[in-house]
Formats: sequence, C-alpha cells, structure tokens
Amino acid sequence: MVTAQSQFDLYENANIHRGMYDLSNQATKKFENARTQTARFLGCNNADTIAFTQGTTASINIVAQSFLAPRLQVGDNIVTTIMEHHANFIPWQMLAKKYQIELRIAPMNKDGDLDLIELKSLIDHKTQLLAVSHVSNTLGTIHPLDEITRLAKNKEIPILIDAAQSACHFEIGVDSLNCDFLTFSGHKMFGPFGVGILQVSEKYLGDMIPFNFGGGIIKDVQIEKTSFRNFPHNLDAGTPNVSGVIGLAAALKLISDIGKSDMESHLNNLTLFALDQLPQVPGIEIIGNPKKRIGIISFNLKNIHPHDIASFLNKDGIALRAGMHCTQPLLRSMGLQATARISFSIYNKEEEINKLILSLKELINFWS
Ligand SMILES: Cc1ncc(COP(=O)(O)O)c(C=O)c1O
Repeated sequence: MVTAQSQFDLYENANIHRGMYDLSNQATKKFENARTQTARFLGCNNADTIAFTQGTTASINIVAQSFLAPRLQVGDNIVTTIMEHHANFIPWQMLAKKYQIELRIAPMNKDGDLDLIELKSLIDHKTQLLAVSHVSNTLGTIHPLDEITRLAKNKEIPILIDAAQSACHFEIGVDSLNCDFLTFSGHKMFGPFGVGILQVSEKYLGDMIPFNFGGGIIKDVQIEKTSFRNFPHNLDAGTPNVSGVIGLAAALKLISDIGKSDMESHLNNLTLFALDQLPQVPGIEIIGNPKKRIGIISFNLKNIHPHDIASFLNKDGIALRAGMHCTQPLLRSMGLQATARISFSIYNKEEEINKLILSLKELINFWS
C-alpha cells in the first residue's frame, strides 16, 4: 500500500479526468482500475456502482443526503439498531428530526445478539431505509446479513450495510447479498486514512442526486442551470483523494493475496484462545456473548476504569482501545459508560494474549 502510494506521489502525481497529457491519463487509468478492482473484491459485476468517498462516515452521510432526504415525508420511518457506530446512527437521527419522521431502533438481547423478531416488527410500508452494520465494533457480534437483507427485501425496503468492521475479513459478495448500499473505510483494510467506498445497487443509481456542488461532477453548466454526470461521477465534487484510492487498491490486493478465509480462521483461533484465557483475570467481565463473533472483545475490570486499563497496558506496549467506541446508545442500553476493547488483526499472536493477561494481572495487583 505504502509503495503503491509513494510511487504515485513521487513519480506519477497528476489529477484525474481532467488533463490531456500522459501523466494525467495514466493517473485516470490507475484510478479507474482501482474501481474495477474494488468491484471484483466485493463480488460486484458493475464497477460503476462504486463511488470512492472519504470513508464509511462520509458514505453513510452521502446516502442520507443524496438518496434518503429527498424522498422523506412526514409519517415515514427509518429503521436501525441499538448496536450501530455513531456513523450509522446520528445521520438517521438528524434526518428524523429535520423531516419529522420516526427513527425506529431494534434492540439486542443481553448476549449482544440483535433481536431479529423485534427488527422485523419495526419494518413496515412507511420504512424508507433499514441501516445495519455487518459487525458490531464494540461487541464483535456478526449479524446474520442474509436474514436481515431478506427482511428488508420482502418489503422492498432499501437496505444499507455498514461493512466497516467486516469487509477486511469476510467475502461479502454484494451481488448475491442483494443489499442496496454498502460501505467500508480504507484504514480498516490496511489501506490509507481518508478514503473509502460506497457501493450502490443498480436499482437506486438514478436516485443518487448530487448535493455537494463544484467541478468534476457536471455535464454542462449554464448561467441558469447545470446538468450533472451519472453516479459514481456525480457525488465527488472537487478533487478526489487519488493517491488514497490507489493505496486502497493495493491494500485490497494484499487482503486477496493473503486470503480472507485464512485471515478469518486465524482471527477465530485467536478469539477462542482469548475467550478461554481471559477468565483467569480476577474480576474481569467480558461484555456480551454473541452467537457469532469476530476478533473483538470488550471487557471491564472491577473498580478500574477502562481508561486506566489502557494507560497501564500502554507501558507494556499493548495498544488497547478504551471508551465508548462511538457506540453510546449501545453501551447505555447495557448500563455501561465505557469498556476496554481488544481488537485482533492478522499480525497478532497467542503470545500477545498471554502478555495481555499478565499485564492485566499486574494491574490488578498494583491497584489492590
Ligand atoms: C462499524 C463502524 N462503522 C463506521 C465507522 C466509521 O468509520 P470511519 O471513521 O472510517 O468513517 C467505524 C469506525 O470505527 C466502525 O467501526
């Protein structure tokens, strides 16, 4: 990723879709190749259904402003879940307030699994969007996407999947999944910061209306009116993050080369090992016990704030996230303010889990 990006920055740097000179044409080609490669990565036949954005948050806000806002009417509703990252929660809450519509929130059970019966009961003919994450970034829960997508499709409701935590690890297959909007961020895919994607089903491409105006998205501009290009070229007014997109394509290639199934089984093994070993830490409470989970484990220690846990472990070179993980509604629903969170990646090893456990025990001794 770094090599691909620095090669571009140092030797091939030019803007895309503008110049008539070789450097610009080559940059355009690389950028568009990245789109094709992203489509292949997502099991998607039509690369023109993929827009490059600044990341998951930006993509979700695009769906909110471009697709959803223009079709909302009083009496409508948006359905989401209590388990969402703020990025997949606040945009809907804002729309609900502005357009006087209802935001319906599906609950989870005490184990951290989504309540699918409740979710189903919330969707009706006034639902304009179902917005759900594939994987909870706080509890690690893997939601049953096929089942959830079917719930929406049975009622012809558009569905958005926030794949920020899952696109790196699972074969998503957007064409077979049959979702309408899917998004992920580069920096969670071993790629650059500030770049991500939004994939839109062919059915709704024509509904993606520009809302951010400027150069690069237009067909024709007159004093009185402007006409716009089609998706995906009508949403990214201004200069895109060309080198970021090229870096992202290199990162996707790296993931494909490693192989998602190898990654998944490595993460599964680490997670099972950690869940087996962590209970030996006195006073530990593992938060949630979902039926299917990814390599994310939230926990608390009795009488020690998660920020203190993270600071203490930092001295041993352990990078642990602590806080509310941009999921305040989820934590509040569990009566919590914060957790410490372990999040594994392909480079982690069992020895590191042993080291983590030793550090936690040392912290408890120090604290008592
Ligand atoms: C599930 C989920 N959704 C959305 C986001 C937001 O991603 P970004 O900050 O890259 O826009 C995150 C980031 O942690 C996430 O975990």
